[in-house]
Amino acid sequence: VVLILDFGSQYSHLIARRLRECKVYCELQPYDLSADQIRKLNPKGIVLSGGPQSVYATDGLHVAEGVFDLGIPILGICYGLQEMAWSLGGHVVPGVKKEYGHMDIHITARKHPLAQLFHGLPDTFSVWMSHGDKLAALPTGFVDVANTANTEHAAVSHPSRWFYGLQFHPEVTHTQHGTQILRNFVTNVCKCRCDWSMSDFVSEAKSAIKEMVGHRVVIGAVSGGVDSTVAAVLMKEAVGDQFHGFLVDNGVMRKNEAVEVMDRLANRCGVNLQLVDASEKFLDRLTGVSEPEKKRKIIGNTFIECFEKEASKLNADFLLQGTLYPDVIESISHKGPSATIKTHHNVGGLPDHMKLKLIEPLRFLFKDEVRALGLELGIERESIFRHPFPGPGLAIRILGDITTKRLKILQEADSIFLHELRVHNLYNEIGQAFAVLLPVKAVGVMGDKRTYEEVITLRAVKTSDYMTADWFDLPTPMLRKTSARIVNEVPGVNRVTYDITSKPPGTIEWE
Ligand code: XMP
Repeated sequence: VVLILDFGSQYSHLIARRLRECKVYCELQPYDLSADQIRKLNPKGIVLSGGPQSVYATDGLHVAEGVFDLGIPILGICYGLQEMAWSLGGHVVPGVKKEYGHMDIHITARKHPLAQLFHGLPDTFSVWMSHGDKLAALPTGFVDVANTANTEHAAVSHPSRWFYGLQFHPEVTHTQHGTQILRNFVTNVCKCRCDWSMSDFVSEAKSAIKEMVGHRVVIGAVSGGVDSTVAAVLMKEAVGDQFHGFLVDNGVMRKNEAVEVMDRLANRCGVNLQLVDASEKFLDRLTGVSEPEKKRKIIGNTFIECFEKEASKLNADFLLQGTLYPDVIESISHKGPSATIKTHHNVGGLPDHMKLKLIEPLRFLFKDEVRALGLELGIERESIFRHPFPGPGLAIRILGDITTKRLKILQEADSIFLHELRVHNLYNEIGQAFAVLLPVKAVGVMGDKRTYEEVITLRAVKTSDYMTADWFDLPTPMLRKTSARIVNEVPGVNRVTYDITSKPPGTIEWE
């Protein structure tokens, strides 16, 4: 393992990302992890991330005592470099010229044995800088390896201690050869084997889960989304029927969704999964509610109530959660240096009195790695590459009153839309697509008769992170066919529109 000590840079998770691309297993840990804890993890190398603070300030963040004496190779990036230099007796000062953006770096010590971080790279290339402070004097024993027009000590190293520092960010794609620099660190310096693979992950995760669970019982809510599906199948592989999953049908799922999820997971993957049909309870409580946040609250609370009721019938010790790496990073950063980001709870706010220990087997994986894991576990592609679906389900896509009639209309329209996307080979190019039932009626004419009926809008977006999104330019013939099918096949709808709003200013969902 390679440890990344996180000083709160917005790029910290990218370091993890790049190291995984080099097939090296790595973990992001808080910046002040003690030397003892580090020793126990026995890493082959440590990366100190960037961060927003100044090392010399009273609120400067520092590694725990003894970390530089562990004899483990260390790579400091930006703040990480300044922290290493400052801790070992160098000088860090506010830069007269701040450096943000592209800079050309010149390798000055090509023949130096410790220039191996730049092995195979040209003498000059473009790197991404983002720093206000700069290193003014090197600590004893350090040498310069590279500079830029403004930064004398852009890359430094200590020959005998295997310490390296970079003022720029090799983890961002704007830095040319950035991944190669990190690869050189883990291969040439840390001597990592770089052969970590998903099948290693499966066997390691299974034995870790077995050891943790023993003969006890694990429960978990399964929605049929990618994360909960992969987590449930991994759990079944590890502890079989000692895992007991619940699929809560909240009545606002897509057409046939509950039946299909049961079929996929229970019948075909062998997961011990119980369907809890609470649709009536949910729909009762949603009657007459049109305010989006109120809908969310009702669904969240009712979900917890149902889950707890079923779970209390079992004597469980553990709760499975499909928490992913970005959630963990946000939680770590939340406790540490950067306080701006929210914490995550997948099964938001399960009551404390349930006293269950959490099992989060996906907590070190990114979304695409979870997908790779799903494929490794033999889960079919269709389940693995599904669009995300919000917890409050169709309730936040039925604008205005939620009635069984309107729910049925939306389920049918949505199902036609998704079917047509699949038929036209567009589903996998799109980040998320769905139909929305608007809270207006429109006049139309069908068979020479006046109609006054519901309006459906279709939404399809392209996005990489769901934080921003662009509307998807669907081909006209596909839109034409979908619109005709919806109006002809879904009673109660006489008009279909297409949403051409990006995010921002819109959000992906309408509520
Ligand atoms: P917005 O609408 O905020 O959505 O652009 C971004 C992503 O989040 C999903 N979403 C939710 N997921 N509970 C969820 O589990 C919610 O209340 C919720 N609201 C939005 C949305 O589907 C999109 O993928």
